[in-house]
Amino acid sequence: MSFYITTPIYYVNAEPHLGHAYTTIAADILARHMRQRGEDVFFLTGTDEHGEPVAQAAEREGISPRELADRNSERFRDLVARVNATNDFFIRTSDPQHERVVQEVVQRIYDNGHVYAGTYEGYYCPRCADFKTEAELVDGNKCPIHLIVLEREKEDNWFFKLSAFQKPLEELYAERPDWVTPQSRYNEALSFIKQGLNDVSLSRARLRWGVPVPWDTSQVIYVWIDALLNYYTALSYAREGEDLTDRYWPARHLIGKDILKFHAVIWPAMLMAAEIEVPKSIFVHGYLLMDEHKMSKSLGNVIDPFEVMDRFGTDTLRFYVFREVNFGGDGSISAAGFETRYNAELANEYGNLASRTLAMIGRYRDGVVPDTPADEVLSADLAGVDARVREKLDVVDITGALEEIWTAVRRLNRYVQDEQPWKLAKDESAADRLDGVLYALAEGLRFVSVLLHPYMPESTGKLLEALGQPDVSYSSAAFGSAPGGARLGELAPMFPRIEPAAAA
Ligand code: MSP
Repeated sequence: MSFYITTPIYYVNAEPHLGHAYTTIAADILARHMRQRGEDVFFLTGTDEHGEPVAQAAEREGISPRELADRNSERFRDLVARVNATNDFFIRTSDPQHERVVQEVVQRIYDNGHVYAGTYEGYYCPRCADFKTEAELVDGNKCPIHLIVLEREKEDNWFFKLSAFQKPLEELYAERPDWVTPQSRYNEALSFIKQGLNDVSLSRARLRWGVPVPWDTSQVIYVWIDALLNYYTALSYAREGEDLTDRYWPARHLIGKDILKFHAVIWPAMLMAAEIEVPKSIFVHGYLLMDEHKMSKSLGNVIDPFEVMDRFGTDTLRFYVFREVNFGGDGSISAAGFETRYNAELANEYGNLASRTLAMIGRYRDGVVPDTPADEVLSADLAGVDARVREKLDVVDITGALEEIWTAVRRLNRYVQDEQPWKLAKDESAADRLDGVLYALAEGLRFVSVLLHPYMPESTGKLLEALGQPDVSYSSAAFGSAPGGARLGELAPMFPRIEPAAAA
């Protein structure tokens, strides 16, 4: 089966912040997990480069939009690599191949009779690149997200007949109750549709930085139409000489809640208008908050993900954001919270379990994992964890799956406390028992590490190597399935404790 997962494409009007790394890591966790299961995965991310957000930022810096896009797109590409994301392609909406397919699809929407010339009159936020209704404005006429004063605009442009898709969209929602999750977001999108849909601008007349409208090159295609199409266009040119569309389309999207309307309303309507299959699913996550506010460039409360990774490592960042904040809801993160979880869970629980297990096998069994059957009580306690992780990740419950794994990590630490191998080692007659305990620990560690691999690929990879069991396929995630007898390798301390002063 194919599994095509996407992130939103990021605006290049500013440097990346932790909020941007968030969706990319989430998509990577799912992509890696599905690859473990042997699925045919395609993982897409990239940058959204046209439109006012970028044109205006470039103007403020006194450079061309293309220069700004080239510079910042590189920063996002660096971030993707630095968080260890295994994306199969990085799309830029300024890629000529993308632009060509955008024009083709928009032309098809036009040829199918869903476009007309009209006049837009109303409010527009250049930072959101979004048309706002009066009801959405705050404090008189400010953008509810960017809190900047919006001007009333009047412009002749091309319109997409979104209103004509009211019924087909309602049918889509009725037929597929889980096509947008969590449920609250499905309800939000559906009630937006039921309120009655207005047609939307498909082009902008005043802007030059964009893809020209094929039948009227005096206008450029509205940036959201151009951007949404990235999910579709990428498959046509990601592999040279090969069109991957039939193999991977339709996509599963991960998005933040601020861009729900575009993805859950406008996007499926556009696809219907172009006679293209609508996405498989849309999962909507919440915000990472700092002091209870959305982390965002315009509010000036951003965390630099590069700095965090320099200090704590990539795996720690990948672990922390999904452990601390329930994926799907909003949640606060902080440097102090980061440090607490690092010490309490990565250093004391997982790291310590690994170092104790390896040290004891080294000391008591010359570094060779005993070959005995797995402890039955522990087997019974760990049975089903892999199935539950899988079920949770199938519904994008990244935090819930991690909690399942962490319960197993804690169970293993309790096993060490209960069995006290250091006492067994002093008792000749307990040699068999000690073999059993050490095998169970090596095996338990292997088991949780295979499950944790999508979350923390680097450290789990090193640990599995050291255990002499590098296989990360999901079928190997069965407690007791790997035989003993492996000789342990070296392992540098995985998550050395951070002293509070060093993290300040
Ligand atoms: N370019 C559009 C998306 C086009 S997709 C066809 C865009 N870009 S963005 O760079 O502003 O935001 C990209 C994503 O980052 C959004 O999903 C947004 O929700 C997410 N985040 C930005 N700040 C965030 C947090 N503080 N927390 C979590 N996610 C956040 O919108």
